[in-house]
Amino acid sequence: MPEFHTPPISPMAIAFDAEKLTLSPEGPTLTRRMSDLEGLFLDAEAWAEASAGENPVVYTVVSSPVPEADRELPQSITTIMPGDTGGELWMTKGHQHPNHQGEIYLALQGRGGLLMFDGERTEWLDMLPGTIGYIPPGWAHRSVNTGDEPYAFLAVYPGGAGHDYGWVLEHGMGSRAYRAASGVDLRPYAE
Ligand SMILES: [Fe+2]
Repeated sequence: MPEFHTPPISPMAIAFDAEKLTLSPEGPTLTRRMSDLEGLFLDAEAWAEASAGENPVVYTVVSSPVPEADRELPQSITTIMPGDTGGELWMTKGHQHPNHQGEIYLALQGRGGLLMFDGERTEWLDMLPGTIGYIPPGWAHRSVNTGDEPYAFLAVYPGGAGHDYGWVLEHGMGSRAYRAASGVDLRPYAE
């Protein structure tokens, strides 16, 4: 039997419901409201107005109990509500893994996009149910709801990867995604 500094958790079955968007047993859950997304939308005035008003839920994250610890492989389901702020589509905060490691997203419901930025290059993947988006090590990543229904995806990621949200505030994401008559309008990040 291999030896570990921190013993991994025991093998376990996790019930995954792609329709109800649940993982069972359930681990930590997270709710991000508009006020949690400070400094991320280009239209700061529209953001402030929405935050001070209804302060809507922009996205939620439910996780399995697999811990965010080195060598473990946690999973989570993120659901982004449809909407835009100053025309910019609702999205996750976006983050970089400080300990550069890859990750996969599997689209479950709705229509979305996976925006990635390595500090120089920008990539956009259309995400429809069944699409696996691969995030290579070193690429910051943000998910965007491009449709009129909630957009949900399953993430599977190295537990030791970490989440650096400040990286996006400092470096941006290369592009911003705006609502367009057909699909999405990607514009330069511009601050
Ligand atoms: Fe990640």
